[in-house]
Amino acid sequence: MKSQDIRKQFLQFFESKGHTIVPSAPIVLKDDPTLMFNNSGMAQFKEFFLGNGTPKSPRIADTQKCLRVSGKHNDLEDVGFDTYHHTMFEMLGNWSFGDYFKKEAINWAWELLTEVYKIPKENLYVSVFEGSKEDNVPFDQEAWDIWKTLVDEDRIILGNKKDNFWEMGDQGPCGPCSEIHVDIRSAEEKALVSGKSLVNNDHPQVVEIWNNVFMEFNRKADGSLEKLPAQHVDTGMGFERLCMALQNKTSNYDTDVFSPLIEKVEQITGLKYTTNDVKDISEEQNKINIAIRVIVDHVRAVAFAIADGQLPSNTGAGYVIRRILRRAIRYGFTFLNTKEPFINKLVAVLADQMGEFFPEIKAQQQLVTNVIREEEASFLRTLEQGLQLLENVVAETNAKEVSGAKAFELYDTFGFPKDLTALILKEKGMTYDEEGFESELQKQKARSRAASEVSTEDWSVLIPGNVETFVGYDQTENDVKITRIRKIDSKKDGILYQIVLDNTPFYPEGGGQVGDKGILVSANETIEIIDTKKENNLILHFAKQLPENVNAAFTAKVDTSLRTSTSKNHSATHLMHQALRTLLGTHVEQKGSLVNPNYLRFDFSHFSKVSDEEIRQVEDFVNARIEEQLPLIERRSIPIQQALEEGAMALFGEKYGDNVRAIKFGDSMELCGGIHVKNTADIWHFKIISEGAVAAGIRRIEAITGDAVKDFYTTQESTLAGIKETLKNPQDILKSVVSLQDDNAKLKKQVEVLMKEKIESLKQSLVSESKEINGIHFLAKQVDLSMSGTKDLAQAIGSFAPDSFVVLASIEEGLPNIHCYISKELVAAKGLNANVVIKELGKYIDGNGGGQPFFASGKGKNAAGITEALAKAIDFVK
Ligand code: ALA
Repeated sequence: MKSQDIRKQFLQFFESKGHTIVPSAPIVLKDDPTLMFNNSGMAQFKEFFLGNGTPKSPRIADTQKCLRVSGKHNDLEDVGFDTYHHTMFEMLGNWSFGDYFKKEAINWAWELLTEVYKIPKENLYVSVFEGSKEDNVPFDQEAWDIWKTLVDEDRIILGNKKDNFWEMGDQGPCGPCSEIHVDIRSAEEKALVSGKSLVNNDHPQVVEIWNNVFMEFNRKADGSLEKLPAQHVDTGMGFERLCMALQNKTSNYDTDVFSPLIEKVEQITGLKYTTNDVKDISEEQNKINIAIRVIVDHVRAVAFAIADGQLPSNTGAGYVIRRILRRAIRYGFTFLNTKEPFINKLVAVLADQMGEFFPEIKAQQQLVTNVIREEEASFLRTLEQGLQLLENVVAETNAKEVSGAKAFELYDTFGFPKDLTALILKEKGMTYDEEGFESELQKQKARSRAASEVSTEDWSVLIPGNVETFVGYDQTENDVKITRIRKIDSKKDGILYQIVLDNTPFYPEGGGQVGDKGILVSANETIEIIDTKKENNLILHFAKQLPENVNAAFTAKVDTSLRTSTSKNHSATHLMHQALRTLLGTHVEQKGSLVNPNYLRFDFSHFSKVSDEEIRQVEDFVNARIEEQLPLIERRSIPIQQALEEGAMALFGEKYGDNVRAIKFGDSMELCGGIHVKNTADIWHFKIISEGAVAAGIRRIEAITGDAVKDFYTTQESTLAGIKETLKNPQDILKSVVSLQDDNAKLKKQVEVLMKEKIESLKQSLVSESKEINGIHFLAKQVDLSMSGTKDLAQAIGSFAPDSFVVLASIEEGLPNIHCYISKELVAAKGLNANVVIKELGKYIDGNGGGQPFFASGKGKNAAGITEALAKAIDFVK
């Protein structure tokens, strides 16, 4: 059975049991500070378990793109080494929200596996929660009794809290679970060792395929459990493992989920992958297999994350994606000998394979390919630089072992992986201090943990059961009650309070637009709200202090001046999006946006620079829409299908409900939850202030509206006036500036000629000043030249005679610089190294530097140290 059909059958089965089939949520999560990526099917439904919202149907099923690479569930380092863990995987799931419970969940799971997929019953084992004294949760008798009607008792295993009590994170919904394990070993192996003894023992062919969780509790911040308002079912079946079982394979990588990708890698590298049934492979082949598994796994994670809007970057989720891709690149670099970008070529295969079910990958194939290609090229360059650096480190050390700190510096500052460091050193008969490396790594981890630590207390609920409403589209002021409060303590922002209201006019950060600021006022006090954010369907108002009387009646007042400026920028963003698609083409898609009171920032897919002429056209387009005074047509809730048919723009990576809000100005129509002006005339004016690249194929425009445009021109005007005055009020400023530039260029040329002459004459006199020591022409001297002149002179003197050892220093703008040239013959014959010389002499001028064994330079802060540095130079030749 093809994987495509396996997926379809799962969904059809649960549809026949009354479930509504929903699309996978984006792999990158928004609105949940405890989680970066979707790590399980239930993550998008968390709010329903907690009672903060109502699902559209009490029975839902889907296949969810999951990523387990950070936080509580993290499999990254295992991937490649075994045959059944992945970074990205699909989780097939069915859910009951306060509807059916254990009986139906267990019976249907069994029916699907044994009657639809026809997995032989004798290949299956199930587990039941044995109970936990610590949490005061009893043995799951109910699940046991249900299983006993379906399987022999000796196929049921009791599991402890680690295996049979599922929690999505340190806090949040959780409950006992029942797992189903499949034994796909050969008959001979089964006869020798019972499958039951291998369950939960990391055996690659006795693996868990399905987890049925019976959600009943919420784990609180203090570690205790509280009962949820209702009982739910949350299940997750590993799609790739199910395919392995149904396609009679013994490795996920031998199924048709991965084989097309593997074939492509084989074709590109000319190397062969051996499937899991091939035994007794060489050490070499094993390494190739691991590398190929790493690559075909990681490309899926990275490609889907990019398609869902998460570009590789240096922080947060973007950094995790970058690290996954880099892990794949270096496995290729080290074990497949790939020195050119190639992983990007797998995206086409992936799009063919998965595009039908996940259209986002097909639609954005070109963009995803470009972004990956660029990341590959840049990291391969880093790897090359790292190689050079490592050469220098090796040249500088006399010991057989490179220090852990140095290896860590290579890893941390240059992205140079430790296993590669080890491999290269090994070729030179050297090693590095692994313990030292580990200790540096732990120190750094502790530092970054400390910096990002946030401790969150449990909610104090003042008014239970209230579902908060947002009234901010119509009002900026409203009478409110506080329904719950929570204290958080973060290293970054200190102690803050999160306040939830019964209803609120405050817009929570979302869709690129920043959260509202404002105040809560009661008869006796005023509390400042510094930000508003959304978390699992709750709107959190952030304050530095709580009111004395939290039960008082308050008026919530949004800062309307900030909000008005923000709304101008938001509406202008829509108009600019329309302008870009009209003028540059419909390949333009939004890839990120920020809308705040001061300006707007918009990232979009486009393959070349937006020219000055195009920028002007975009400005004109938007300003024309402003002049047309187009009224806002807001539809709060229309069926998504209707909105799309009417031409509304939807974004990849956004989660939309069945009913959506549509914002229309003339021909611009977007699905959007943000705050907008009532008429485009309110924007007043639109001006682009910058354009540049963010990543391969992604451009960024920053622009301003309203009063900011006036301020912008005022500043421009006064700068221009300043220039005019400096130039003594010429008739034509531009002409004056050009003529200044011309003069400057002429003078520069003259200085260069003079400098060359000076260097030449200095060279003659200094060559004759050099002394012969131990057969070496030695010279150490301070000269009166610029840094680059000193550098040139050192090389010129050095190359004048063979066996030269020249050290020159000078002072430029008060700061010392020093250079060492050693003839290549000396480097070879006597093992002298200019790098080492500069490192040593640099100490006297408070400086550092480096270069090649035959020429190195350094800069410092202490000019007074030059004399001593030059005096010490002679020690090297003595
Ligand atoms: N949420 C459960 C899991 O991920 C089904 O295993």
